[in-house]
Amino acid sequence: MKVVNVVGARPNFMKIAPLVAEMQKFPDIHASLVHTGQHYDFEMSQVFFQDLDIPKPDIYLAVGSASHAVQTANVMTAFDKVLEQERPDLVVVVGDVNSTLACALVAAKRCIPVAHVEAGLRSFDRTMPEEVNRLLTDQVSDLLFVTSADAIDNLLKEGIARSKIHFVGNVMIDSLCRSREKALKSDVRERMGLNGQPFALVTLHRPSNVDDPVRLRKILEAIREVSRHLKIAFPVHPRTAERIRSLEGSNSTRELDGIILTPPLGRVDFLSLLMNAAFVMTDSGGLQEETTYLRIPCLTLRENTERPVTVTLGTNTIIGNDPAQIVGGAMKILDGERRQTEIPELWDGHAAERIVEVLRREFR
Ligand code: UD1
Repeated sequence: MKVVNVVGARPNFMKIAPLVAEMQKFPDIHASLVHTGQHYDFEMSQVFFQDLDIPKPDIYLAVGSASHAVQTANVMTAFDKVLEQERPDLVVVVGDVNSTLACALVAAKRCIPVAHVEAGLRSFDRTMPEEVNRLLTDQVSDLLFVTSADAIDNLLKEGIARSKIHFVGNVMIDSLCRSREKALKSDVRERMGLNGQPFALVTLHRPSNVDDPVRLRKILEAIREVSRHLKIAFPVHPRTAERIRSLEGSNSTRELDGIILTPPLGRVDFLSLLMNAAFVMTDSGGLQEETTYLRIPCLTLRENTERPVTVTLGTNTIIGNDPAQIVGGAMKILDGERRQTEIPELWDGHAAERIVEVLRREFR
């Protein structure tokens, strides 16, 4: 079975690592890796290949940053040539970034079966580019691997045949389990001056939070308010860094006083911070899942989530981006307020094994 695995942007790397490792165990699978180059900075891309022991991509498409239309089109054009050359039996895409949709669409047009890992997640908010990517990728996929039961319902409602859907668990958690040992050895807390001190971990990169300067400034002020009570570690995504730089008067970085900023971190250092954080404030998708697994409280600075199981069973609270809510949510956690939580079904570190088992069965 000839499989082309696709990655493009940061969250894809974590998801593909356990899958590629699992595929390599089987001599009947010829697995190659295509990196679209949607993310390209060392700390947004290459460091993850090192930290996660992902083999060097067989093909690198170097599409880079552009508008959604141009980026998606560039991936499609470049990936089409790859498929023409490689003629695989299957294309595997993960997550919900532009590269995910672009490659799924190209493969579907060439009548090459597509497997979508992390299918069926829905925020029901089509202003999120990822939601459009999820909906369309699932429509053109032949095998849909889901992380939770709600995703099965979403897909059935959209007319996807039950026989295509496989509930296998969460490769994000596989990835976390694989990197835990390495993370225990990281000295990132020493480097950031956090050793032995309680701290909260912050990440922000959604256009809905960072692209509007008024909103961004309010969120930063709320985080600064929280920083009066404990240290804040904030690895800054390039999109956010650019927006912070262009905030009027940000040279004095008033909003950032008391917050420890770093460039984006690699997988091992980031996981080390996460495992030791008192709580997390984020707009990331993957972090909502990882905090649930690690039983660390998470405040999600969004109005909705495509991962509702992290709220119903896990440690996640959808807090929005109102500063009073953010500070109030943080204070409750600092006051020790906790609820009973559970780790969702099949989030056990073995999702990649189940996926590869299904692939081998389907293609036998
Ligand atoms: C993308 C994904 C998002 C994912 C996020 C994780 C889409 C629609 N969005 O958003 O789902 O959560 O990745 O990071 O696919 N940039 C760099 N260096 C890089 C990459 C980007 O400096 O290596 C800068 C560029 O200025 C670029 C901006 O970041 O324009 C945004 O990058 P882009 O890939 O368009 O979207 P993300 O916000 O990263």
